[in-house]
Amino acid sequence: MPSTKIAGIGHYVPENVFTNDDLTKYMDTSDEWIRERTGIEERRYATKYKETTTTMGAHAARAAIEKAGISKEDVDFIIFCTLSPDYYFPGCGVLLQRELGITKTEIGALDIRNQCSGFVYGLSVADQFIRSGMYKNILLVGAEFHSMGLDFSTEGRTVSVIFGDGAGAVILQPTEESEGILTSKLHSDGTYAEELALINFGSHSGYHDDIDYGFHNEDKPGGLFATEKMVNEGMMYPYMNGQKVFKKAVVKFVEVINEALKSEGLEQSDIDMLIPHQANLRIAQFVQKSLGLSDDQVFNNIQKYGNTTAASIPIALSEAHAAGKIKKGDLVCLAAFGSGFTWGSTLIRW
Ligand code: COA
Repeated sequence: MPSTKIAGIGHYVPENVFTNDDLTKYMDTSDEWIRERTGIEERRYATKYKETTTTMGAHAARAAIEKAGISKEDVDFIIFCTLSPDYYFPGCGVLLQRELGITKTEIGALDIRNQCSGFVYGLSVADQFIRSGMYKNILLVGAEFHSMGLDFSTEGRTVSVIFGDGAGAVILQPTEESEGILTSKLHSDGTYAEELALINFGSHSGYHDDIDYGFHNEDKPGGLFATEKMVNEGMMYPYMNGQKVFKKAVVKFVEVINEALKSEGLEQSDIDMLIPHQANLRIAQFVQKSLGLSDDQVFNNIQKYGNTTAASIPIALSEAHAAGKIKKGDLVCLAAFGSGFTWGSTLIRW
């Protein structure tokens, strides 16, 4: 059975840089608060009416296709991970297929909705398809257009300062060499579903009387579609219980990395490069310390881009690789935690 290797990586971030100071024009916050709590200095925002999640994904995809030395017609399956799609449905997978102009071959396109863990989940799904011999060139994309749906008033500041826009992509191929994905570990715990969520619009219709929906609980808005009340009263914005996310994330990141290492008979010290989902620099630093890794063994770029959810790992992987920080034979570890809660890790022999 072949293994799955990453044959090409690409990323795209919008030109528009939005600094912490820029945010102070819209909400009561400060550069100092944001840097201290999250490590973020600036983020990129896509241009409304000119860019979409799919068009950003397409930029990253073209770069990954070129790096892999294949043509778009060689792609035989698409997997698209995002929580900020162009449409409620259909998903971005088919839109990307159209955007890239590979409709002639009528290849399959799958959408993954696992938020910050989306890329790690996607990698694992692609790995199974490649190992089974079903596909030879899978295009896996993570892309987000967060800025279109954030609350830039002071009420929304806890969430809004963290997230940024961008896209990353990889081409996955079979390999007979001793390289590629060694293992993936995937987990979830739906009891925390509403702790980091955007529940409107949806079919819940105020169904869960026992669930605290946060600031909009008592309104029981519900309904399948957006109501005027939802729009006017800020119920269409994401909610995050920051402290609960933080506490759970630091535990689960370390746990799932150790689980993957153990299953391969490897030690923490064997990791050459850890690329954690760029949730928060403080979380990444906590994980680094817990695993006893040096600064050279961990790659972070949240300072420049904020948290780009499904795009954060492929953007970081692309930058780390381009900077020569990942060499052939290295043990690369990817790990993510996010909304759901969902979390996972992947070990790759480069
Ligand atoms: N600017 C200034 N003040 C802010 C602020 C902002 N952007 N956001 C919140 N505050 C204020 C709060 O209103 C609160 O004020 P109060 O003490 O007067 O009530 C104070 O800062 C502390 O708020 P709190 O929510 O307790 O802060 P925190 O230390 O938990 O930090 C996060 C908030 C979001 C940075 C932190 O919880 C976190 O990083 N969580 C993980 C988030 C994450 O990684 N999400 C992505 C998961 S994939």
